[in-house]
This record gives sequence, structure tokens and C-alpha cells, in this order.
Amino acid sequence: MKINLNLSACTGHGRCYALAPDVFTADDQGHAELIDPSGAVADDLVDQARSAIANCPEQAITGAD
Ligand code: F3S
Repeated sequence: MKINLNLSACTGHGRCYALAPDVFTADDQGHAELIDPSGAVADDLVDQARSAIANCPEQAITGAD
């Protein structure tokens, strides 16, 4: 799976790094950062990534299998 973070849409709700702490982290201002900048998601982290996609209020995260 590959995910994309649209930082211009992220307003810092923080749900992504709360729900998917192995996929996302936060910068100093609470905006999301991808732990792996390539966006590649290991198979065992796909459930976390899907949860983040589903729960970002700004739809800042998208993904494709
Ligand atoms: Fe940003 Fe959405 Fe996460 S607004 S901090 S990408 S939950």
C-alpha cells in the first residue's frame, strides 16, 4: 500500500498519528508527518493507515493498494 499526505489540507487534528502511530508522527506544530517519506506502508501497518485515512476530518490522507 502507498499513502499520500496532502500537507496543504492538514490542519493538525492529530487523529492520524493517534490512530496510526507507526505510520505518522507530528511536527512541532502538530501537523502530520509520514514516518516513511516514501509513503510506502508495510503490510502489517495497513490497518493503521486505513484508519488514519478514514478518520482525518480534512481528507488530507489518501491511499492506494
Ligand atoms: Fe492532519 Fe488529518 Fe492528521 S488534519 S494531523 S492529517 S488527522
